[in-house]
Amino acid sequence: MSPIGVFDSGYGGLTVLRTLVDRLPQYDYLYLGDNARAPYGNRSFETVYRYTLQCVEWLLQQGCPLIILACNTASAKALRSIQQTDLARLDPRARVLGVIRPTAEVVGNYSESGAIAVLATHGTVQSKSYEIEIEKFFPGLSVVPEACPMWVPLIENNEHGGPGADYFVKRHVAHVLEQNPEVDTLLLACTHYPLLLDKIKQYLPEGVRVLAQGDIVAESLQDYLNRHPEIETRLTKEKDRIFYTTDSTEDFNRKATIFFGEEVASKHVDLR
Ligand code: DGL
Repeated sequence: MSPIGVFDSGYGGLTVLRTLVDRLPQYDYLYLGDNARAPYGNRSFETVYRYTLQCVEWLLQQGCPLIILACNTASAKALRSIQQTDLARLDPRARVLGVIRPTAEVVGNYSESGAIAVLATHGTVQSKSYEIEIEKFFPGLSVVPEACPMWVPLIENNEHGGPGADYFVKRHVAHVLEQNPEVDTLLLACTHYPLLLDKIKQYLPEGVRVLAQGDIVAESLQDYLNRHPEIETRLTKEKDRIFYTTDSTEDFNRKATIFFGEEVASKHVDLR
């Protein structure tokens, strides 16, 4: 079997997998959540790189010809090194793609005012990856970066529907608009954040939209596969969906349902 590998530090990548499965259902998918070491958001560059590389190596060993880092933090801190150095040694025919570049390529099209906000983990904001990539495609677009360090823990602890979430959502939305009242698009640049969509919408002034990445990543993957038949033809198409976690499978199965929208039966893998 040669599935598409989808990786995240934990559950967030399941929001991307959901869209990939809906829009490109013919392929086999192998999801790996590094739940034992999540969250990655506040970890150093070196640590995120080391953990991500281990996960990518494991996915390659499972036979994935193509791996999506469905985690902005890993895309920001590990993707470039993996693409430019590690892959040649590990499997030169395989490809590893991230979620930042495809998002940066289109995000400016959603803004009429020319000002957007990028809501993300501390690690993604600190890397400045979005500003750097967006500048290549939309020079002059004003980007307000906003780190929301409490959002992932709220979501991981199933508190995203509660009053704690209201407090932190309201605070960050207000902070973004204080910095630049022209902002008309909030990009959710963390794959966990779509679980807060309903809450975020409650606190948005009229005329401000919120954008999740799932559809953007799926569209970009479809386009990539059309342009790269040498990868596309290697992918098996049995509609298998396989889930692995580095932590407890019971916890994963319970929470994954919230992110993926259907029941999953995961297996455990020990990565250290
Ligand atoms: N889902 C990850 C992302 O897209 C962040 C979660 C974490 O902090 O591990 O950035």
